[in-house]
Amino acid sequence: MINVFYLIIETRFSDNQFPFVLLGDVGAGKSSLVLRFVKGQFLEFQESTIGAAFFSQTLAMNDTTVKFEIWDTAGQERYHSLAPMYYRGAAAAIIVYDITNSVSFTRAKKWVQELQVQGMVVALAGNKADLLEQRRVNTEEGQAYAQENGLFFIETSAKTATNVNEIFYEIAKRLPSVQPLPNPGMVLVDRPAHGAASATCCS
Ligand code: GTP
Ligand code: MG
Repeated sequence: MINVFYLIIETRFSDNQFPFVLLGDVGAGKSSLVLRFVKGQFLEFQESTIGAAFFSQTLAMNDTTVKFEIWDTAGQERYHSLAPMYYRGAAAAIIVYDITNSVSFTRAKKWVQELQVQGMVVALAGNKADLLEQRRVNTEEGQAYAQENGLFFIETSAKTATNVNEIFYEIAKRLPSVQPLPNPGMVLVDRPAHGAASATCCS
């Protein structure tokens, strides 16, 4: 039985291509994190996502490459019913909250509960870590919740780029059939130099 399961995983995510989803409250910074990761950019006035947007990015980790096929979902409540379309079959998810907004942390916990049945790699990101003076959710709260629920946790800032590549890298390490060497070097294969538009970004 275990062998059969292993085979299914191996075939499903062949060639190290991994469907990946970002979930979280409206305005938490999902699109900003993806934009930072895929294009190295940040917009002060990022438009709210409608439905979902698709991006791709490849990470080279020593002798392995991992292609993330990223669904950036909309946080607005009216799109909630669409979310299973994106997280079902996903290999990994980042659940994002805004450290300056405790409602977004509560919302993140609901996403964790909803995803627990899905059996995927899940990371929790406390975003907007640059806004320290407006913080409403302590690092320890996020950390403790993540530990209780077996999630990888990190605070990020899409604005300053803090821990953005790191969260994707940490997820990649935890994916089936990705086993980087110790002391890994990480390279973003697709990101264009000097902030030009990415050929891999589809919407
Ligand atoms: P929806 O698409 O509506 O679900 O929102 P979202 O989660 O995609 O949030 P989005 O990336 O659109 O960001 C919302 C606002 O927060 C934008 O004005 C961003 O510029 C801002 N923002 C996002 N990340 C950060 C961050 O790390 N620091 C700061 N200071 N602002 C951020
Ligand atoms: Mg968005």
